[in-house]
Amino acid sequence: MSSPPCHERNLCRPDGRACVNKLSCRSLRKCARVPGAESLCETKIEKHADVPDNFFVLDRHETFGDYARTYGDDLARRYENYDIIYFPHFPLPIDLPMLQSFEIPAAYPKIGTRNGIDADLFVRVEQSLKFDHNHVLFRIFRDEYMTGYLQTQIKSVNACIDSALRVLFPKYYWLFCGNLTWRFTDTPAGDLHIDVFQNGLPLVESDNRLHRIKVFINIDLEPRRWRTSFTLPEILARYRGRLPATLPRDRNVIAHILSKGNLLRDAPAHAVAYPQLSAIAVNAEAVAHQVLGGKRMIAAEYQCEQRDMLDPSKLTHAQVPNWLARHGYQTA
Ligand SMILES: [Fe+2]
Repeated sequence: MSSPPCHERNLCRPDGRACVNKLSCRSLRKCARVPGAESLCETKIEKHADVPDNFFVLDRHETFGDYARTYGDDLARRYENYDIIYFPHFPLPIDLPMLQSFEIPAAYPKIGTRNGIDADLFVRVEQSLKFDHNHVLFRIFRDEYMTGYLQTQIKSVNACIDSALRVLFPKYYWLFCGNLTWRFTDTPAGDLHIDVFQNGLPLVESDNRLHRIKVFINIDLEPRRWRTSFTLPEILARYRGRLPATLPRDRNVIAHILSKGNLLRDAPAHAVAYPQLSAIAVNAEAVAHQVLGGKRMIAAEYQCEQRDMLDPSKLTHAQVPNWLARHGYQTA
């Protein structure tokens, strides 16, 4: 019998057999038995009373297909409403013990498909094959076997994430992978922000018509710690007196103004700590967020066309003029 597609694979069956993700299974069993081990496995979400509660916490499922069967279009609908979708288990075929043993130089805080992480390791020169010693992974690990094994992991996991997102958001027919990045280094605490691209310059129209889907998957033994706060329309309403009276109609430029002015430094926020192989999907260009700490993780950055959204009028950039008008801003 052929094996099921990635999004239908249960990697951690209760009978313990066919357990691809051994560490995840072991950790779960340990959490059930060993007092004190819970902190590694439990999700902690501390909600701040002054920030609207926009968490959409899913029940745990063992396959992506089961998440899709349970929640259907609610996943895309809630995401388009700027809710933070929490997956208590993100079932990936991944060798966590091996990956969690890697330490790489801080000079490579994240490497992704845009850096050629999934490019071929072998190059053909006439009739012979040569290992590509210029490959980004070899430049880090300096070992052909290690590089080969890691890239096999990365490629299979990336393919599974791609398959999963198409099952979780099936109406997003034009779904494009902008980048899949892997981190193996400590992430220093950052500022509360909404994402800024290209140094805050106005984006070209074709980029502004894209709906961005971001998923952050923790693959470290320690929980990844975040804070999340107001959405962009809530920020425009709440900080009306502290922002310029005239703002551009460009989401990216407004995000840059918020960041430069450090306007969100005192903003109240929810705190979340999410354990290994759990994930958060959040529209980071419209929901304020902040990394407090964490180490190994995978970030999936996908884009879909506005026309494929369940409600195309909810495209963030397209809503900016309405928000500005509603909250009394002049537009530049
Ligand atoms: Fe960000």
